[in-house]
Amino acid sequence: MNIMHNAVQELAVNIPGATDLFNNYHIDFTAQQPLLLKDTEISGEITLFNLVEKLDSLLHEHAMSRHNQWQAVSKKELISHILENYHAKHRVQLSDAIRLSQKIANAHASHPDFPHELESHLAQMQFELEEHMMKEELILFPMLEKGMFPLGPISVMESEHIDHAKALELLRTITNEFSPPKDACNSWITLYKDLLELYFDLKDHIHLENEILFQAEDQPAR
Ligand SMILES: [Fe+2]
Ligand SMILES: [Fe+2]
Repeated sequence: MNIMHNAVQELAVNIPGATDLFNNYHIDFTAQQPLLLKDTEISGEITLFNLVEKLDSLLHEHAMSRHNQWQAVSKKELISHILENYHAKHRVQLSDAIRLSQKIANAHASHPDFPHELESHLAQMQFELEEHMMKEELILFPMLEKGMFPLGPISVMESEHIDHAKALELLRTITNEFSPPKDACNSWITLYKDLLELYFDLKDHIHLENEILFQAEDQPAR
């Protein structure tokens, strides 16, 4: 589930505990008109990042059915879900983010909160993620689809996932937890929302691979 692109009304219904969270932070989930979380006005008590993080952890607490859902499908089906919903999406997310960060650099490089390391960090993430996804697409996934379970390539991918998680944490630091300055332009605000989405998407992607796809079919999940 992509939390940011869901309406608060839907999140309230689908995530146990979400209504308490919304009440605590004065987020109105009862309005007639669907309101996407990414477009919701968040008060100063909590940042959008913290709110999504709290919703994400509630979702994971209650994710047994989702976990089981993916355990019940074939590796082939899970791989096509991953390719379509994560690999293809990350490629667009990173190239869009790099384009937008260049645009912001052109206009706001002298702003005191301008994140000077952002563009090079995104380019590095794009390079590393592309290399990793290519290895999965060309080598590992076809083997898994044939019923093979190659421990060497799997452990290489798992260790690269640790590097991706570190890159995400650095992204979170560079962007001040995806919080643009108060006087940020629309492009800056959009970029940070997009990066927040990438942060949670890539975490989900890694979780799905480590916990389900890279588990031998006759073994319980680690
Ligand atoms: Fe992947
Ligand atoms: Fe991966």
